[in-house]
Amino acid sequence: MIPFTISPNATPVDAATRVALIANPGFGKVFTDHMVVIKYTEGQGWHDAQVTARAPLSLDPATAVLHYAQEIFEGMKAYKLADGSAALFRPDANAKRFNASAARMAMPDVPEDVFIKAVEELVKIDSAWFPPVDGGTLYLRPFMFASEVFLGVRPAKEYLFMVIASAAGPYFKGDAGAISIWTSEHYTRAARGGTGAAKCGGNYAASLIAQAEATAHGHDQVVFLDAVENKWVEELGGMNVFFVFADGTIQTPPLGGTILPGITRDALMTLAREAGLMVREAPYSIDQWRTDATSGALVEAFACGTAAVVTPIGTVAGTAGRFAIGAGGPGQITQKLRQQLVDIQCGVAADGHGWVHKIG
Ligand SMILES: Cc1ncc(COP(=O)(O)O)c(C=O)c1O
Repeated sequence: MIPFTISPNATPVDAATRVALIANPGFGKVFTDHMVVIKYTEGQGWHDAQVTARAPLSLDPATAVLHYAQEIFEGMKAYKLADGSAALFRPDANAKRFNASAARMAMPDVPEDVFIKAVEELVKIDSAWFPPVDGGTLYLRPFMFASEVFLGVRPAKEYLFMVIASAAGPYFKGDAGAISIWTSEHYTRAARGGTGAAKCGGNYAASLIAQAEATAHGHDQVVFLDAVENKWVEELGGMNVFFVFADGTIQTPPLGGTILPGITRDALMTLAREAGLMVREAPYSIDQWRTDATSGALVEAFACGTAAVVTPIGTVAGTAGRFAIGAGGPGQITQKLRQQLVDIQCGVAADGHGWVHKIG
C-alpha cells in the first residue's frame, strides 16, 4: 500500500469551542480538524497520501470537475462502541461501491485497502470530535474528483481522492418520528443506462428540484418513480425504501441500475431474513402502494440509509391526494429492524456477519 504522511493540524479548533460545537452538531455542519488528500496522475497512479489540516482547496477555474462533473462520493459513519473504541460499519462495502461508481464515471479505482486506511486514519486523528449525544457519530465523506486543468469532454488524467469528517447528530429533526413524503411526478432521478446506481454528485444535483417541490408542499422527502412508466417506486432522494405487509412479508424495489445499492438496504434484508421474514426484491407501483395502505394489506413503510438509519414513512402525497400508512407512527417491524441494526453498529448486539470494523 502507498505510505501515508500524517501531519497533525498545528492550529486545531480549541477544546472549549469543539465541545460547544459537538454538543448539538446537527448534520453536515460541524467539520473536524483534518482531512485526507491523495493524488492520482495517469501513468503514476495514486501517490502522496496526506492526513493533514483541514483547509480550503485552491482550484484553477478550468479544473475539469467544475465543468463536466466527474465526481463521486461515499457516505459512511464511525460509531462509538460501548467500550469507548470506534468502529466502521462494512467499510469494504463502501469501498466496493465507490469503485463501482468510479468505473461508471470513467475514473480510476481506489484500492480497497487505501480507501479503508484513509477513513481509519481520519477517524483516529479526529476522535475527539465524536458528539457525546445519543446517536452521535462521525459522518465520513470520502470523495474523488477530476482535478486536471483542461476544457474538453474526456476522462481526466488527474484526480484527488479526499476524506472529510463531520460530527453528526440525528439526520431528521424529530428522529424516529414518521416522515411524510411527496411523489415526484414531473422529475425522474435515473433512467436505464444512466448513472442511478452510481453515487455521483450529478444525481443529487438533478434531484434537488424535486426535493424542493416536496418541501414546498410541506413534506420531508421526495420519492422517485421509474423514468419509463412513471409508476414503479424507486427510492427517496437519499434513502432506499421498504414496504411491510400485514402477512408479515417485506418488499423493496430491485436493483436494476437505476437505484443506489444501499448498504443499509442490504444489511436490513439480511437481518429480516434471519428473523424468519420473507423478503422480496420486486417492483411495487405507487398505485398499489395506495391501494394496499388503504385496505390495510400494507401496514408499515420505511426509508433507510447511512444518514437516516431506518425512518418510518407516515404519509405519502402527490397530485392525486395523500394516503396514510398504518397508524402514522413507527410500526413494530420497522422499529425492531432499526434497533437490531443500531445495536450491531454500536457493539451492543453481537456482530455475526463481520460487519463491524474496529479501528485501532
Ligand atoms: C440515493 C440514495 N439511495 C440510497 C442510499 C442509502 O445507501 P446506504 O444505505 O449505503 O447509505 C443513499 C445514501 O447513501 C442515497 O444517497
